[in-house]
Amino acid sequence: MALLTRENGHARLDLPPLEKVPTHVAIIMDGNGRWARQRGLPRSAGHRQGTENLRRIIRAAVEFGVSIMTIYAFSTENWSRPRREVMLLMRILEMVIDRELQELHEEGVQIRHIGELDGIESRLARKVLEACEYTRDNQRLILNVAFNYGGRDEIVRAVQNIVRDGIPAGEITEATISDYIYTSDLPDPDLIIRTSGEFRLSNFLIWQGAYSEIYTTETYWPAFDRAEFHKALAEYGNRRRRFGRTDEQLDSEYRLLKRAKTRQL
Ligand code: FPP
Repeated sequence: MALLTRENGHARLDLPPLEKVPTHVAIIMDGNGRWARQRGLPRSAGHRQGTENLRRIIRAAVEFGVSIMTIYAFSTENWSRPRREVMLLMRILEMVIDRELQELHEEGVQIRHIGELDGIESRLARKVLEACEYTRDNQRLILNVAFNYGGRDEIVRAVQNIVRDGIPAGEITEATISDYIYTSDLPDPDLIIRTSGEFRLSNFLIWQGAYSEIYTTETYWPAFDRAEFHKALAEYGNRRRRFGRTDEQLDSEYRLLKRAKTRQL
C-alpha cells in the first residue's frame, strides 16, 4: 500500500518495493504540446514543464534502481517543426547541460549522446561532448540522450561503417549490426515507455527495441510523475518475456531454476 510521508517539507508518496526492475528503460516523452494547450499555454511552456519532469524522472530512476535510461529528446524528424520550436528545443538542451550537469554528476549519472551532432550548432555540440566527457566515469545511471536521433538513420550509418570496414557480406550477422549501432556496449531496452496515449515507436530504437516490452499511458509527459513511473515499472514486473519461446518452455525453465536454487540452500 502506498503511504504519504514528508521529505524536506514536501509530501512524498512511499511506494511499495518493486519485485523486478528493468535494467534499461527507454522513454518517448510525448505530449508536451497537448499538456500546454489543455491549459491555454504556449507549446514552449509544455516543453519547459517537460524538462522539469525529466529531472524528477531521472531522480526516480536512480531511486528505483534502473541502470540505463534512454530518452528521446529530439528526433531527426523534429527538424520539420516550426523553426522557433526547433531553436527552443536546442536551447533547452543547452540549458539542461548548463544548469543540471553538476548535480547530475554528483548523483552518479553518466551522460551519453546518441544521434548525430552534425547539423547541431557548434557551441551546443561542444557542450554535449564536454558533458559526456565530464561524467564518463559515473556508474549509477547511464543516461542516453537521443538528440538528432533516428532509428533508421542509425541502421543506415551502421551498414555504411560495416561496408567501410570491409566486412564480407556473408559474415554479417545480427551481432555485427548490434556492434555498429550507437548503443553497441549496452543491453537492449527491457521497457519502452510512451506517454500521451500514442502507440508508435516513431523511429526510436527500432533495432534495439525488437524484444522490448512497451508501456503506454494517456498521461502527458509533463504530468508523468514518480508514481506513474513506478506503476510502469511494476507492470513490467508482471509481464512475461518469452523471446519467441512458449509459456510451457518458460514454466519448465522456471521449475528447473527453482529446483537448482532449493538444492543450493
Ligand atoms: C514531444 O512532445 C516532446 C518533444 C519533441 C521534446 C521532448 C523534450 C523534452 C521533454 C524536454 C527535454 C529536452 C531535452 C532536450 C533534454 P510534443 O511536442 O510532440 O507534444 P504534442 O504531441 O502534444 O504536440
